[in-house]
Amino acid sequence: MNFQKYTAYPPVAISGRTWPDGTITKAPIWCSVDLRDGNQALPVPMSVDEKVAMFQLLVSVGFKEIEVGFPSASATEFAFVRRLIEKQLIPDDVTIQVLTQSREHLIRKTFDAIRGAKNAIVHLYNSTSTLQRDVVFRKNREEIKAIAIEGTSLVRRLKDKSGNPGIRFEYSPESFTGTELDYALEVCHAVMDTWGASPEDKVILNLPSTVEMSQPNIYADRIEWFCRNVRSRDSVLISVHTHNDRGTAVSAAEFAVMAGADRVEGALFGNGERCGNMDIVIMALNLFSQGVDPGLDFTDLPRVRDVYRKCTRMDIHPRHPYAGELVYTAFSGSHQDAISKGMKANFQSNGGLWAVPYLPIDPRDVGCNYEAIVRINSQSGKGGMAYVLETDYGIQVPKWMQPDFAEAVQALADRTGEELSPSQIHDLFHSEYVTLKEPIMLKKCHIAWDDMDPDRNEAEATSLSCIVQVEEREFSFEAKGNGPLDAFAKGFVKSSGMEFSVEEYAEHAIGHSAGATAIAYIKIGTPDGRMAFGAGVDSNISLASIKATVSALNRLP
Ligand code: KIV
Ligand code: ZN
Repeated sequence: MNFQKYTAYPPVAISGRTWPDGTITKAPIWCSVDLRDGNQALPVPMSVDEKVAMFQLLVSVGFKEIEVGFPSASATEFAFVRRLIEKQLIPDDVTIQVLTQSREHLIRKTFDAIRGAKNAIVHLYNSTSTLQRDVVFRKNREEIKAIAIEGTSLVRRLKDKSGNPGIRFEYSPESFTGTELDYALEVCHAVMDTWGASPEDKVILNLPSTVEMSQPNIYADRIEWFCRNVRSRDSVLISVHTHNDRGTAVSAAEFAVMAGADRVEGALFGNGERCGNMDIVIMALNLFSQGVDPGLDFTDLPRVRDVYRKCTRMDIHPRHPYAGELVYTAFSGSHQDAISKGMKANFQSNGGLWAVPYLPIDPRDVGCNYEAIVRINSQSGKGGMAYVLETDYGIQVPKWMQPDFAEAVQALADRTGEELSPSQIHDLFHSEYVTLKEPIMLKKCHIAWDDMDPDRNEAEATSLSCIVQVEEREFSFEAKGNGPLDAFAKGFVKSSGMEFSVEEYAEHAIGHSAGATAIAYIKIGTPDGRMAFGAGVDSNISLASIKATVSALNRLP
């Protein structure tokens, strides 16, 4: 690796930084840049109709500031802004934002685009970094500052001419992360003066990590430094706009808010140039998971995902935080076990607070269901299978039977090498434990109770008559016991000569209606040390227990 080709990003000379002690107790002002920065990064940019669909999604999620495009950059962009205004698609409480370079004809075109908008932010930018000054523009600091001042002053004049009090102003020293801090501040001060920033007419100063070049703590240092040193702090809103080149755009934005930023720009699922913009879904749901109202509504994340995919033609990684198809799913046995215990415990106590191992938030809060939480493959354990059978089919496999079933599931998963669906697991349970009819088949069974006789002998209160086939031999027996299972065991042992005893037993109803079926689970043992599990399903619980016994007998090794 040719690391000598690179050098470390300079630290910020700041003493007594306070941001590491900060906490985020309220959501910042959010601004979506999906329709501009996100759109600019798409191989196939959105059409006007797609942009409308995306805009409506963003409005429904609750964004109050939406950068809708770069109207001087293309006919589609211009047409879209006009469509929004002319078709009155912008709610009164939503402000559209439009980006422009600091060039006269582009600024004028931008004002043409927003004519008639009730509220609009004109977002002007020019690049200020040393690299861009030297290599791209070949201009010195004063000349670059002059570009910002000229642009700002034209925007001011055009706003005054428009007579529209709803027009606000945002300035970005683009490539801020490559710009000397004192120079970025100098340019921003000049812009504030030109605009006439005041507490009543604040300028938004947006400090982008156009390219993410350092650890997020250094970006936070820069934001704290800037907030400390900017003149009349109450005349500006400090906005951050982080990109994800190092994979820490969300952390950088969070630290920046701790360092004093008021506003955050980002895009859904982190869409944007190169490695993307800051992912607003993640940052909002990070706040949500800490008990802070995110101010954005992601209760139907699957819908947000769908519209996003359709409009952008971009995919979302299955492991994408909060939004990926697999992020609320556990395959590993120990995780499944902990989740299944946590899900049960969570609903009983914990003061109403969510606390389930491995699930930082309740999937249902973002419109996902519990079905996908536990999925089964060869890595899975007994807890997972039990969870699937219980949640999907109401079958509560007792603990003493779970390891046996887990072995069967694992053997099947190893054989197929694939994930097993809940229905495959259900089928396997039935074929392993319920539907076994060879070599022993229960052909008839009649049960009678001696309930009404107050002097009955409890040990013989249930009588049973059965016809059973064992291989080619069919025989019948009558027996008495303290219950149907006891009577069957006694009668069967006596007439077949096959000795066994019941070691574990459990039963429950499946479903709650009058037509509910019952399921019985049994573990039997033989005097020579063999043992087997079985299950029986029937509308009559007594018959279910006898069927379970027959299944277990059929499974004896
Ligand atoms: O990343 C960036 O610097 C930008 C600016 C135009 C704000 O998108
Ligand atoms: Zn950007």
